[in-house]
Amino acid sequence: MELSSGVPDDIDVTRPSAARVYDYFLGGAHNFEVDRQLAAQIASLTPNLAQTMRANRSFLRRAVRYLVAEGIEQFLDLGSGIPTVGNVHEVAQDANPQARVVYVDVDPVAVAQSRAILDGNKRTGVIHADVREPDRIVAEAVDLGLIDLSRPLAVLLAGVLHFIPDADDPTGITARLRSVTAPGSFLLVSHATQDGQPPEVLAAQRLSARTDTEIHLRSHDRILEYFGDFTLVEPGLVFLTRWRPEQVGDFDEHPEQVGAYGGVARK
Ligand SMILES: C[S@@+](CC[C@H](N)C(=O)[O-])C[C@H]1O[C@@H](n2cnc3c(N)ncnc32)[C@H](O)[C@@H]1O
Repeated sequence: MELSSGVPDDIDVTRPSAARVYDYFLGGAHNFEVDRQLAAQIASLTPNLAQTMRANRSFLRRAVRYLVAEGIEQFLDLGSGIPTVGNVHEVAQDANPQARVVYVDVDPVAVAQSRAILDGNKRTGVIHADVREPDRIVAEAVDLGLIDLSRPLAVLLAGVLHFIPDADDPTGITARLRSVTAPGSFLLVSHATQDGQPPEVLAAQRLSARTDTEIHLRSHDRILEYFGDFTLVEPGLVFLTRWRPEQVGDFDEHPEQVGAYGGVARK
């Protein structure tokens, strides 16, 4: 299926985008032929990848339900992607209809599709911005009237920090985001890793350099740095399927095959 509506004119359909490749792996319809070709190449090198992406989205859903149960009513979702299966606002508002969600993505297709899907939902907003501009993002989220910095906030960085090279200071970005939040706030991070991975994964990582968003695999210790002085909730920073699993699933025997860590920490 091709993209149907809400696609801006300035989209380069000859160059794959990480958001659309991810959408394809999740079974969504918001992708072009060029994205599907790259997805097929990546999948041939890392057959687990589609499951890994589903594991990431599944981790995000479990964590959002946990955060709502902890009393969180506002979410800032950075690198939110194309709202395909199980969006943050659906999960959060299902548990608490008052929950507010601001989605942020750098990809114009993700932003256009998010706006189309969220039209009419007054407790959600969409910002077209780069994670590397944390101050602008926070200011716009407050201006939208959806985020109140005097109250606990959940900052979600699911599957996005591995697109930020060290040169752009992902540690500084997360520190800035943590610093603006009130006590009782949370930070969620999921991030691809080279830990326990076979050499093919590195070849797939090189293929990602063909998108505007090359993937930077990082170790457990490096990813831990993003939580700063926040306290990780149980079970800590773990392979995605090990974070409060609700059912038996893929990678139970070899959780490292998921190739990504996830964790949630409290201020
Ligand atoms: C793998 S998807 C993750 C989607 C969603 N957060 C999830 O975990 O299911 C990564 C998203 O991050 C976005 N992204 C990549 N680099 C970004 C940046 N520098 N600023 C904002 N978004 C970015 C991509 O466009 C894509 O939509």
